[in-house]
This record gives sequence, C-alpha cells and structure tokens, in this order.
Amino acid sequence: MKAPACYQVTFECPESQREQLYAILALMPVLGTEESDDTIVAYFQWEGTAEQLLSALSEHLTAMPGIVLHYPEQYQEQDWYRRWIGTLQPIIVSDRIAVVPPEVDTALDRPITLTISHRATFGTGQHATTQLCLQLLENIVAPGQQWLDAGTGTGILAIAIARLGARGVIAVDSDPAAIAEAEENARNNGVQNIEFFCADLLSFPFPSVDGVVANLYLHLHQQLLPQYERALATGGHLICSGVLQQDQAELVALLRQHRFEPVEIRERQNWIAVWSRKQ
Ligand SMILES: C[S@@+](CC[C@H](N)C(=O)[O-])C[C@H]1O[C@@H](n2cnc3c(N)ncnc32)[C@H](O)[C@@H]1O
Repeated sequence: MKAPACYQVTFECPESQREQLYAILALMPVLGTEESDDTIVAYFQWEGTAEQLLSALSEHLTAMPGIVLHYPEQYQEQDWYRRWIGTLQPIIVSDRIAVVPPEVDTALDRPITLTISHRATFGTGQHATTQLCLQLLENIVAPGQQWLDAGTGTGILAIAIARLGARGVIAVDSDPAAIAEAEENARNNGVQNIEFFCADLLSFPFPSVDGVVANLYLHLHQQLLPQYERALATGGHLICSGVLQQDQAELVALLRQHRFEPVEIRERQNWIAVWSRKQ
C-alpha cells in the first residue's frame, strides 16, 4: 500500500459556511486547519493522489457552491507542524471553562482548564457544538452523578463532566483512534473516573445514568432516542447537539415522542444544543 502523503488544501469560504465546512472536514483525515479572514487551509494525510483528494472533497462540497476549493499541494509534514503549532490559541468557553492544546504554554484563570490534543479526532473544543455542550454541562452536572458521553471523540465532554464533579462517566466511540486519544487526554487531565468503550452506539447497551450528552447528528439521535429513553429515569438529563438550527423543530418533535421535554436550547453559528429532561 502507498504511504500516505501530506497535502494542504486552501478553501475560500464565506463566514456563513465555515461551520458546515468544518463539519465536513471532521469526516476526512485532517491533521489540522489554519484560518484567516477569507480562507481555511486544511492539512490532510492522504493515501491517494491529489486528484483523488480533490474529487473526494468536491463530492462533499457539491451542496455548498459558495466555497472555492484550490488544487491540493503536497508539503513536508515537519514544516507544516512547526507553523501550525504557532497558530494554536486557548479556547475560552465560559467564565469557568477553557480548553488549551498541550503545545500551548499559557496560564489561564479558568478553574476548569482542559488540556486537549489537536490531532485528527473531532473534539478539540473549536467547534460550536462542543462549546455549546460544555456550556450546558457546566450548569447541569452535579457531584455524584453518573453520565454517558455518546460519541466521545477526544473525550473532551467526558473529561469536563468528570472535572465538574460527576462520580463517573461512560464514554463511547466507534473509532479506535478516538478512544486511544481520549484515554491519553484523560490521563493528561489527571481524570480517572471515565470508562472508555470502543463500540457502535447503535448496538451498545446503554446503562442507567443521570445524564447523557450526545454531540452526534440528527439521524443518529433519531435512531438512538429509544436507548436514551431507557437509560434515563424521570428527571434525567439529555443534551443533544450536532444538529443545525434549521432542524430544531424536527429534533424537538422527536424528543417529545420519547418523553423528553426541552428545558434550554442554545445556538451558535447555525448549530444548536438542546438540553431536555425525561418526563
Ligand atoms: C461530532 S463528534 C463529537 C466529539 C466530542 N464529543 C465533542 O463534542 O466535541 C462525534 C463522534 O461520534 C463518533 N460516532 C459517530 N457515530 C457513532 C456511532 N454510531 N457509534 C459510536 N460513535 C460514533 C465519531 O467517531 C465522533 O468521534
């Protein structure tokens, strides 16, 4: 098999479509991204040719005509990595929570500062949906609770829940690379009460918990709602994100079909996170 090469691709992307572009990039083997006023440059590790990468990207972007895609250029990984490290910044989520990449040496006055690695796994803290979930969790998680993080990615939400005082967290992802990265992130944050499982949520036996956070996508929420319903007792907390604002009514209707009543809906850059409680 051909060794993967490193490519950089420049996207000219209006502000209004940035979050959608990031959501698409999260599905691809992206090492990292750099943002400027008009462009996003994404760095890929790719086993095929530049033409195949271009064609895979073009297929994902057919519904987004506002984005102009440049031809992939090959680069030396070391050059990019050194430049990219220099662009990383802490992410301030709220008065209490911040997320910092391990390469950034900074002192922040946020009591919950999470050190989360920036590799190919989703959940660096940059995405609006992750930030919305963190802001909701901050107000909901109480000491002694047991939570389930469905689709943990880097483990960012599970680690935040543990740092907010939960008794334990079960964190599930179907991607073995994500679980390995999440376990490393948990160790780096000194958190020991998270149990990680590499499994498909659709066949994972959800245990009884006090809260479920699921930053996934609408269709998967639809399929998982019977499991959320079984896992939570009356009053139990459910946070669903990864859903666009235009799909809010559909998500709320699905939640109500499964005995969940929305308590708070947060929105950022066209994405929503819905906190609901089991009736
Ligand atoms: C949008 S990311 C969320 C990551 C992190 N929780 C956050 O909020 O930033 C969704 C994660 O769910 C995982 N995932 C998607 N479908 C899944 C499934 N059927 N079973 C288990 N994990 C799944 C993906 O691998 C990905 O890591």
